Amino acid sequence: MKVFVTRLLPDTVMGRLELSKEISELRVNREDRPLTRKELEDGVGWCDIILSQLVDSIDSSLMNINPDLKLIANYAVGFNNIDVAAATEKKIPVTNTPGVLTETTADLTWALLMAISRRIVEADDFMRSGKYEAWSPTLLMGSDVHSKTLGIIGFGRIGFALAKRAQGFGMNILYSDVEEKSFASEVGAKYTDMYSLLKQSDFVSLHPFYDEKSHHLISERELKVMKPTSYLINVSRGPVIDEKALVNALSNREITGAALDVFENEPDMEPGLTDLDNVIIVPHIGSATLDTRTAMGNIAVENILAKINNSDLPSCVNPEVL
Ligand code: GLV
Ligand code: GLV
Repeated sequence: MKVFVTRLLPDTVMGRLELSKEISELRVNREDRPLTRKELEDGVGWCDIILSQLVDSIDSSLMNINPDLKLIANYAVGFNNIDVAAATEKKIPVTNTPGVLTETTADLTWALLMAISRRIVEADDFMRSGKYEAWSPTLLMGSDVHSKTLGIIGFGRIGFALAKRAQGFGMNILYSDVEEKSFASEVGAKYTDMYSLLKQSDFVSLHPFYDEKSHHLISERELKVMKPTSYLINVSRGPVIDEKALVNALSNREITGAALDVFENEPDMEPGLTDLDNVIIVPHIGSATLDTRTAMGNIAVENILAKINNSDLPSCVNPEVL
């Protein structure tokens, strides 16, 4: 089968694809940029299997170009770049890369939480710009993390992994989700509704599944419920936050700070966001370690090989097509 890879993956993953005897032909975008729509269309028309990325919009009209498309293997745990309903209707299986990025994404969440509360980016900037003249009792004071309350919205794999880290810091842990999770007691996380969580938490971290229900889950009203001393962290999907409302809340110091790995209109940012000193912004690097990006690639490769060999797909998000 012919496999189309829309962007270079880590070396060992590329090696597996290139050496695979099962793959008859491989087409790879070797440019250091995402494909244009036209290039994506050409590739889809050519291939049997596409190994896609979050930046590739795999919609119904793209799928229509190739009625024989056999598999969409997405290189991410999320799949909101794919019209899964359309794929299901066309009987095309879609796979993702769950599990392997949980701990790595929780690590980044923790790094952001620590960095925003202790003003690490501001402090680094302060040093580099030669402003450090003498130690001062009130210089760059931040907020404690230990013993504070962490509110986790969306208690799935990543939310749980974050709670484990918070336990080590003696935090009081709350979570909200569509339903209570039995495994939450393992990390001492208490179930509550989202508004009580927002009201009580010193740190609010977002980990919901992104869909229409979680679109703008955090908007003006929710930001007003949060404590003025609190911080918001988002490593899930940008549109979970109404970014315009967040810029207003941060400018008016309705909350103390925010740390964001994802943005509402990635790669763009809401005007005003980069002018604020109480926000840390990083470019969607939640799973960006060599180990994890390699593990994600291996899962994508295993899904592709399983499809070619007609065996069970390790991680299919629409198993009803099988
Ligand atoms: C990253 O955002 C992913 O969904 O893997
Ligand atoms: C800080 O450097 C201290 O010694 O308290």
